[in-house]
Amino acid sequence: MTDVNDKNDIKAKQEIIKDLLKKKRAILLAHNYQRGEIQDIADFQGDSLELSIKANKTDADIIVFCGVRFMAESAAIMNPDKIVILPNENAGCPMVDMITAKDIINLKKDYPGAPVVAYVNTSAECKAVSDICCTSANAVKVVNSLPAGRVIMVPDKNLGSYVQRFTDKEIINWPGYCPPHGRTKPEDIKILKEKYPGAVFVAHPESIPETIDVADHVSSTSGMYKFVRESNAKYFIIGTEQGIMYKMRKENPGKVFISSNKGLICPNMKRTHLEDVINSLSNMKNIIRISEDIRIQARKSIENMLAL
Ligand code: 13P
Ligand code: SF4
Repeated sequence: MTDVNDKNDIKAKQEIIKDLLKKKRAILLAHNYQRGEIQDIADFQGDSLELSIKANKTDADIIVFCGVRFMAESAAIMNPDKIVILPNENAGCPMVDMITAKDIINLKKDYPGAPVVAYVNTSAECKAVSDICCTSANAVKVVNSLPAGRVIMVPDKNLGSYVQRFTDKEIINWPGYCPPHGRTKPEDIKILKEKYPGAVFVAHPESIPETIDVADHVSSTSGMYKFVRESNAKYFIIGTEQGIMYKMRKENPGKVFISSNKGLICPNMKRTHLEDVINSLSNMKNIIRISEDIRIQARKSIENMLAL
């Protein structure tokens, strides 16, 4: 009985959001880790790279960004004439807070001439003092496109070590990391592979190097959708935030998806509820604001990435 009521409640809220989006000429973008009920009403769902490309192309007046703050900030950086809403203002990313613009300026002094590649998981201020952005989908390509022999990568040490496997350039790493992704250890994979013989382990580049070592496939979140769709395997151990399995299960009914670790949940990605979308959009709350000088400089780093 409660289940039916809950479902009706979700449906009703989704209908309210659809109406609001239409009335306000707004578009809803959702990251692949969002709650299922948010994914279901997204105009567009994707990984960080796809979302930044999409945000750059839309002709909607308002972008409702269901993800975390740095993603909504990137959309605002690229669209000064549009309103960008982050439905839950507390949806941040701990990795973003592991580095400041001042740290990057100091790194540049320590390694003169080395370009700075900022993972999109950085603040607008950090992007403003970096040379080019990257996402997990294009990090190797971005680093290899640079003419320098030594490259500074911030803030994710795990993404940096992953890229180091595919480049002759020397990567200078910053010690940031993603807490949820760091929880999957090679021991978890060993146990799960014994339990599910033939299972394929899919990892995200934010995983620790020891976990990457035992991965059968490594990619961004959208790369994972493609991989599991095309693979003939039945069992998949998914080494990224559990929200990704919602669409995987919907798209691949005959396949079984198992999380690599029970703790692989990003609390920030889960902060956004349907109510937050309704409240923020109907009251025009939680609008992302970035000072113009920071925005212009940060835009260059994102544009340099998109140009690739
Ligand atoms: P992607 O979806 O770009 O792979 O990013 C994962 C992530 O952790 C974003 O914070
Ligand atoms: Fe940040 Fe990790 Fe959450 Fe992505 S999954 S938003 S990197 S804490």
